[in-house]
Amino acid sequence: MMVHMDRSIHDIVNMPRGGPDASWLDRRLQTDRLEYLDRDDDDDLKNKVIQALDRHERRRFFGAQKVCAQMALGEVTDIAAPKILELGCGFGGLSRKLLENHPTAEVTVTDIAPTFVAAVAASDLGSHPRATVREMDATAIDAPDAYYDLAVFALSLHHLPPERAAQVIAEGTRAANKLLIIDLLRPPALVNLVVVAGALPFTGLVPLLHDGVISTLRAYSRSALRALAQYADPAITVEFLTRPLGPTAMVAGRARQTGDPRRDREP
Ligand SMILES: C[S@@+](CC[C@H](N)C(=O)[O-])C[C@H]1O[C@@H](n2cnc3c(N)ncnc32)[C@H](O)[C@@H]1O
Repeated sequence: MMVHMDRSIHDIVNMPRGGPDASWLDRRLQTDRLEYLDRDDDDDLKNKVIQALDRHERRRFFGAQKVCAQMALGEVTDIAAPKILELGCGFGGLSRKLLENHPTAEVTVTDIAPTFVAAVAASDLGSHPRATVREMDATAIDAPDAYYDLAVFALSLHHLPPERAAQVIAEGTRAANKLLIIDLLRPPALVNLVVVAGALPFTGLVPLLHDGVISTLRAYSRSALRALAQYADPAITVEFLTRPLGPTAMVAGRARQTGDPRRDREP
């Protein structure tokens, strides 16, 4: 089914996080408030949040790093020694898992935040023979076209406003054959309202919860992700990995990949 989308800059800048077709309530469940992770005025707080997030995602059961690594490696099963670019790596937990779980993958581990990159470079990843640690902005990837087999941006896209998020999709699909975006699920508006209302009183006590509530309000829906990709370049195709619960996972590419029965094809 063809869906008409207006590609004007005005529309994308003002697009609700719930997408062009978001309901009245969904349009109200979003915020421009910055997460501690987005602020440059308190490195201590920022480090505390990323450390807590890293610990949380490292959990043995239902830990996001394991799930994200499985999804990422599932996209390169046909390549013997895949070149993978991780954008927005935080403390590098996902890259570490990718290297652990794939014996020959080469991983470029990057983030826009110099303090995070320095921490990752000082960790085991800094001397790993198959890892390269670099500072990089996901909206301006420093690599030739199709240099990587896969670029992955995990739990990070919601930090960017729509115009920059579209730039990530344009850049990721230029520098890599496939771009895997994994991000928080945007729940149906009523569920979102209940979750946010329940968590709000405690956001002053737990920094990770503060950022979690803002993240939920800023998460993009599937429809928003499709609109971002369409705005980035109408030639970009997107497919969503079928996961009834858990994060939203979208694979974007420029008509280079073949179909995969595990995916739920979107119109
Ligand atoms: C919520 S953290 C997620 C970190 C890591 N991916 C994880 O799952 O633990 C978001 C990360 O995105 C990074 N980030 C934000 N904007 C970015 C950009 N334009 N380019 C690259 N990284 C960015 C932040 O510095 C931060 O490390």
